[in-house]
Amino acid sequence: MSQHILTAVAWPYANGPRHIGHVSGFGVPSDIFSRYQRMAGNKVLMVSGTDEHGTPIQVQADKEGVTAKELADRYNRVIAEDLTGLGLSYDLFTRTTTKNHYAIAQEIFKGLYDNGYIFPKITMGAISPSNGRTLPDRYIEGTCPICGYDGARGDQCDNCGNQLDPIQLINPVSRVNGETPIFVETEHFMLDLPAFAEVLGTYLQAKQGEWRPNVLKFALNLLGDLQPRAISRDLDWGVPIPLDGWRDQSNKRLYVWFDAVVGYLSASIEWARRSGDPEAWRQWWQNPDARGYYFMGKDNIVFHAEIWPAMLSGYNGVGARDGSPGSLGALDLPSEVVSSEFLTMEGKKFSSSRQVVIYVRDFLARYDADALRYYIAVAGPENQDTDFTWQEFVNRNNGELVAAWGNLVNRSVSMAAKNFGSIPEAGELSDADRALLERSRNAFGPVGAELRRSRFKNAITEALDVVREANKYLAEQEPWKLKDDTARQKSILHVALQVVDDAKTMLTPFLPGSSNKVHAMLGGEGVWSGMPEIREVDEDGGESYPVITGDYTGAARWEHQPIKPGTPLAPPVPLFKKLDPKVVDEELARLAD
Ligand code: MF3
Ligand code: ZN
Repeated sequence: MSQHILTAVAWPYANGPRHIGHVSGFGVPSDIFSRYQRMAGNKVLMVSGTDEHGTPIQVQADKEGVTAKELADRYNRVIAEDLTGLGLSYDLFTRTTTKNHYAIAQEIFKGLYDNGYIFPKITMGAISPSNGRTLPDRYIEGTCPICGYDGARGDQCDNCGNQLDPIQLINPVSRVNGETPIFVETEHFMLDLPAFAEVLGTYLQAKQGEWRPNVLKFALNLLGDLQPRAISRDLDWGVPIPLDGWRDQSNKRLYVWFDAVVGYLSASIEWARRSGDPEAWRQWWQNPDARGYYFMGKDNIVFHAEIWPAMLSGYNGVGARDGSPGSLGALDLPSEVVSSEFLTMEGKKFSSSRQVVIYVRDFLARYDADALRYYIAVAGPENQDTDFTWQEFVNRNNGELVAAWGNLVNRSVSMAAKNFGSIPEAGELSDADRALLERSRNAFGPVGAELRRSRFKNAITEALDVVREANKYLAEQEPWKLKDDTARQKSILHVALQVVDDAKTMLTPFLPGSSNKVHAMLGGEGVWSGMPEIREVDEDGGESYPVITGDYTGAARWEHQPIKPGTPLAPPVPLFKKLDPKVVDEELARLAD
């Protein structure tokens, strides 16, 4: 039975190029998942875009001496290139500065407002005493009033995970200029989170045993202290507030997170319009059989497991004040929030300013996308904070990708191509032949089951075990010594090529680029697994912008397919680059300077 699967991928801020810490959290995992789901016959809609509003953009724009719009234009393009280079198969990767996005974000605000879940409030806002400028929440630091952590930010404490208001911080200081901010009255809109306490409690309790335990625990913890949360800001860069008397105020905008999470919906709607069926998005959003999976790093859990479900509930008219669905109709809540932990780099936090960083584009200039995808799948921060080291990258690349998988493909294909020119027929099978064939064929079930639950490490380890067993089989059978027994040699190579074909299929979600190469080597025709591309689009004659999209309806299916004897074999091309061990020192030197 084919299911509708929404893959909702966190929206990167358009304030700089992406580094590998970013893409290990939201990028690669969401793509592995989506590619698997498509292969399993499901209808996947994978959406995201650049997050272009708010202070993260404004502050970087000030630093670079450009406008927020110019900055967003620049990095929207850079990030689209980074993500395309990694082979991430977005159906639509767009941006939050489109008219469509503004309209949908405002629609969600209106729906919540009409149902009584948004109310105005006079609050105390921080300004810088020396220049009178509004100080963004996340640029104020101080001691957390809840847990006592002294690096808490004005919007959130990363130590205990609680949301904060800057005025709650003990000893607040401005990160911009070190001043102690002063607080003045300013009117804002609040999202009434306490009105969703019961709804969220029921929603989250039902996810026991389904979500990653860390994620659910964090989300349930947040329920203990639900406070109304400001969803507007004193800022001129963002989505205007869609109410009379507010719409035209140039210094009041929706809070960036409020508009950004709506992006999943607005991008789905934009995708539907571009696909020629403007209503098609509803199959992923208003369908009891559809499932929505949201991928991100753990600093985003609060917005996806608490605020977004609350916004959707309120829009649907479900919460302490009831209400009725807005004009789009009732919308589905996330089925799962799949959050990763953090990646560090050689024992330190990623930091562009301190040069503890490797950007995706620099990585891809020197190494292949699949080498990084492999590392993230097998050694990424799936369930705990994890350190990236160049030594481990080189070891895994050379020891696992090159020596195990690349070598299996290379020796079986080249021996068969050289001796027979095509896939050989198998004669009578030995016990060892049958055991390996069965082992490989039987792996589809368990590897698929791990992938459906986003347990990528287990999935790829299991698939690689098949590869390792095939290498052991070849070492034992020694087909290269059987020059005088071509019948037996053919059988062995047939078995080996069948396992190569199975493994190619199972590795496709992780390593789509190299699986496409293996597909061609084995005489396969057409596209196996589609790759993303950048296209220029515009909105009713407006400015053009790049989107990532693609045709992912390749031949790849999640199943064992018998190879066909007689199919011509292409001479093998190297699948992976073996890395010189001195790469480690070179890369470490780049970090240090
Ligand atoms: N821009 C945010 C970040 O980088 C993530 C936004 S995800 C969203 O942390 F879709 F909800 F916006
Ligand atoms: Zn705290």
